[in-house]
Formats: sequence, structure tokens, C-alpha cells
Amino acid sequence: MLSVFTREWLEADVAIVDGWIAGLGEYEGRETIDAGGRWIVPGFVDAHVHVESSKTLVDEFARLVLPLGTTAVVADPHEIANVLGTDGVHWLLDASADLPLDVYFMASSCVPASSYESPRRALSVGDLDALLRRRRVIGLAEMMNFPGVVSGDEGELAKLALASHVDGHAPGVLGPSLQAYAAAGIRSDHEAFTAEEGRQRLRAGMWVLIREASAARNLEALLPLVREFGPHRMAFCTDDREPEHVADDGHINSMVRDAVAQGIEPIDALVLASHNATAYHRLDHLGAIAPGRQADLLLLADLERFVPELVLKRGGPVGEIPRAEVPDWVKQTVRIGALGPEVFRIPWPDGGSARVIGIVPGQIVTESLVEEPLVRSGEAVADPERDLAKIAVIERHLGTGRIGKGFVRGFGLERGAIGTTLSHDAHNLVVVGLSDAAMAFAVRRLANIGGGIVVVDRGEVLAELPLPVAGILSDAPLAEIVERSHAIVAAAAALGCRIDAPFQLLAFLALSVIPSLKITDKGLVDVDRFELVPLGVS
Ligand SMILES: [Fe+2]
Repeated sequence: MLSVFTREWLEADVAIVDGWIAGLGEYEGRETIDAGGRWIVPGFVDAHVHVESSKTLVDEFARLVLPLGTTAVVADPHEIANVLGTDGVHWLLDASADLPLDVYFMASSCVPASSYESPRRALSVGDLDALLRRRRVIGLAEMMNFPGVVSGDEGELAKLALASHVDGHAPGVLGPSLQAYAAAGIRSDHEAFTAEEGRQRLRAGMWVLIREASAARNLEALLPLVREFGPHRMAFCTDDREPEHVADDGHINSMVRDAVAQGIEPIDALVLASHNATAYHRLDHLGAIAPGRQADLLLLADLERFVPELVLKRGGPVGEIPRAEVPDWVKQTVRIGALGPEVFRIPWPDGGSARVIGIVPGQIVTESLVEEPLVRSGEAVADPERDLAKIAVIERHLGTGRIGKGFVRGFGLERGAIGTTLSHDAHNLVVVGLSDAAMAFAVRRLANIGGGIVVVDRGEVLAELPLPVAGILSDAPLAEIVERSHAIVAAAAALGCRIDAPFQLLAFLALSVIPSLKITDKGLVDVDRFELVPLGVS
């Protein structure tokens, strides 16, 4: 068995009583599990995850990750919080209370992500204070407004004052700004992309949460820090993983496997995957095999694959997990009026150039382009010849009818439209299309199915992934989600789309805190200048 404290393998019996570890040594038990020739390690812990990224309900997520050895997660529910406010977070807390997976929460500090986004309702300092009073809410989630913190914004500092445990999010922040960010009480960052960024964070006393998400993958770049300093003050996290990524590749266990394959000592990788996450989050009853700890144990047959042979959760095997009841109110979240094709019109009486969002394949950053749009009867229209599609974002929480419109290049669509209600962080409705009629049809379909992702052409739905829970989660089993995910990508390809993961990209075009040109229901956002900009360039 692994001692995470001395970082050594011990040969010992592990005595378990009522789900807790009673001792290590030589014991006789009423029931015995023979672990001869096996490695016993603590259950894996995800130090920072948005469970919603799996598109599954939290009970299905537990069914997915427990067999992979993840026995506890620390979740930031900011996707649900954007759509359903604190009611949604309380619902998630209740829905995860009796699961065999331990789900801890951080109170989402940045809803909305910026003032250019429209969630259902902003989370106030009072909302966060109320959330922090709940038992499994252990701190404040990623403080994404790093410019606000560094410049001493009163509102952000008031949030930080609520908790002694605060996650960070400071991509690219270095030098004096990083010092100020750490001095404000932020204890970690999962946005380090380079070893130098990680080094500065460690030296500033921050924890580095090494992230391997579906889009942002930082494991390889940050493992040199483990070689340089040992595994102290670092832990593993998945942040945002697509359901098919977890199903095909694994969860935290895949990070252990990959780290070991890249030459990290198995013991160090296992400590990064378990004890360090619980030490950082002050979850002292988890993350170690020692007297008085919760008996979350994995039996491993080898130190290469890290797929557990047996998962013991609170001392026993994981039984069947009952399906969660989904209340009706979390399914009624797409509120838009009757929108016809006319709302997508872009009058262009004076001609001239337009700002165009340029997609960068495989990246969630975009380019800010300038193009002269195709003009027909005084309107700027899509132009498949030059890969210029129309894009619109419609506010969908309160039915205000607010809509931002523009153009996007890079999807390669030749006809039809694609649309989604899953769009970070406010999850308003985003639609990209070649005609106003196709866009209106996609929007109507999304409203009818309560949200999700659709691919349409000529008044027909080619494929769809319904996400009726808050417009971002499915209540279907994982296998169905994965199958439909493949179908929508294939349907988009049939419309000419040349991107591998088009809906992952689509989901980030409305996120106003990632450069360079983005679009929300309020219009085009120049993220580098951090201001709204008009479509026309004069
Ligand atoms: Fe995150």
C-alpha cells in the first residue's frame, strides 16, 4: 500500500470499520479482501472540475468516473449557476448529497464572466455568502477577474473576503501582477501553461493545479516542475472534459498514466492525483491510507495503466447508483419569443467593411478580421464562397429578445445552420448559418427541445443532441450522449464543416474573456481592448 506521507510502498493489512480506516498493520477481519500482488492506493481526487462539461447529470458523472478510480471531486458549478442562479447550485448540492462519489463545491465567484455577458442573474456577494454556509461548499471558485483583483476592484475584493480558501484563474499573469494576485489571498491557479508560469506561482506560495482538459492540455508542459521541485504544492485536475474524452481515455487516472509514461515516479504521480488535491482543499479525511481516514481505496494490478481492478468507496464496492429525479423547473430554461428570419437581417445600406470573427482551429482564442461582406438588396449576407457565415447570439434566460449579430470565418459551412444553447459562460443561444431562414429554424428547434445542439438544413433537423437540463446537460445515459455527439459532428461535416470539434469551438465564441473578437447578446466584444465594438468598420 502507498503511504502518501513518506512516499513509500508498505506491506500491511488495511483494517476498515464502517467505511473508515481503523489501522495499518496485521489484522484479522470478519471479511477479507485479498490484495496480494496488488498495489493499494488512495482514491483519485479531481482538484478542479466543472462537472457540467461532461454534459451528464451528477449521478451519471459518478457512474462514469468511479470505475476509473476518481472517488472525490471539487466542483465549480459555474455553468449551472449562469443558467439557474443559486437555485441551480442548491439543486446540484442536493442531487449529489447521497452519491458514492464525494462532490465538494466551490462557490462560483464570477457569474457573469464579464459585464458583456447576460446570465439569468448575476451572483452577488450575498448569494456567495449564502452558498458558503452550506456544508460541502468549501471555498470560493476560480477568481477569473484577475485584472479586477490586481487593480483592487472593491466588488471583487469583497468576494475574496468571504472565504479563506480561494481558487485562482490567471492565464499569462506574471511578475508584479501575479504577486498582487497572490497577495489578495488566492491560493492556486490551474491556468499555468508553461513551466515558468508554474515556477512563479509556486514561488509565490500558490498551488499549481495541473490541468489536462479536452481543449487545454497542460500536463506535458508542467511535468518538468515535478522533476525540478518534487510533487509538493501541485495536484491534478481535469477542469473541462467532454464525455467522449472521459469515456475513451479516462479521468484523473489518465493523467497518472501519462505522467508515469513521461518518466514521473509512480508514487509521485499517485500523490499528485490524491493526497495533494485533498491537502490543498483541506479535506483531511480524504486522500490517504492511514488511521482515521475515509476508506476510499483502489486496487491496482500494475503501475502503468492505472485502471483500478477494484474501487472501494467508504470501505465497500460501489453499488448501483439510483437515477436522480430531475425536477421540471430545471428543464424550462430556453425563454425566447417567436423569432422569425427577419431578426437575423443585417442592413448594410452604406456598404463598407465589417469585423469578422476568425476561428483558429483547435483553439478557443479567435482572430479579429476585417472583410467587405457580400451585400444583397442593401443587406450584408453570408458568403459561402469566402467562408463567411452569419453568427447570432440570442439572450435566452429572460426572453428579452436581445440579439448580437455578426460574421464568422472558419467553420466551412456551405449551407444550413448549427446552433447551441451550451455556450460559455452565460449559455445564451448561439447560431451560425448561411441563411436567415436556416438560422431561425435552428433557433425554433432549440427552443422546442429545451436546449441542446442542433444541425439543420432546408427545414430539416439533420442531427441533434438535446440538453434539456438548463440547456447544457442531458438526462440520458452516457452512451446515448456519446452517440449523439458523434452524429452532430458528422451532420455538420455533411454541411461542409471542416473542423474536428466544431461544437466545442462554437461553445466558446460567446466567452467574452478569451481574446480576440467574441460575440454576445450585447454585440461584438473586442476582448483585447475589453469593450463592445460595432460590426461596421469606418
Ligand atoms: Fe475552470
